[in-house]
Amino acid sequence: MAMDAKLEAAYNAQITMEYGSAYAYLAMGAWLEAEGLPGMALWMRLQADEETEHALKFYQFVLDRGGRVELGAIDAPVADFERPLDVFRRSLQQEQAVTASINELYALAVQSNDFASIPLLDWFVNEQVEEEATVQQIIDDLERAGDAGHTLLMLDRELGARQPEED
Ligand SMILES: [Fe+2]
Ligand SMILES: [Fe+2]
Repeated sequence: MAMDAKLEAAYNAQITMEYGSAYAYLAMGAWLEAEGLPGMALWMRLQADEETEHALKFYQFVLDRGGRVELGAIDAPVADFERPLDVFRRSLQQEQAVTASINELYALAVQSNDFASIPLLDWFVNEQVEEEATVQQIIDDLERAGDAGHTLLMLDRELGARQPEED
């Protein structure tokens, strides 16, 4: 069954948002790397890869449903930060905005009785809980580290151990 036009437009906006997220994480990674924090930079690059995967999940879903993919423009991301803590705080804000957007998509899918959307969106609802919790944990650690350089380096090593996710 074809998708409601409003729902299709919302999926397309979500594709753009996920790519925007990927783009923002790349900018964060570049800043962290330049600051001498290669572990955090790697973490951000893997995060960007994940966002690209998210975009492609929506992209494929729209196509599988016989819809039309329309890619929107992506704004240049914020590329300058004060300190690592601000980078991760911004990352949390971004994830919260994505969560709100996924919730709206869910509400729209329910409104239009688009049951095929539910398993996909359930996956994303869970993914967002995980992403917000992960970033919040890093923020807590960074807040606890304060200005202690050695703790920051330890965190950098820890985040640098992140492995690419398997599908
Ligand atoms: Fe995402
Ligand atoms: Fe995310």
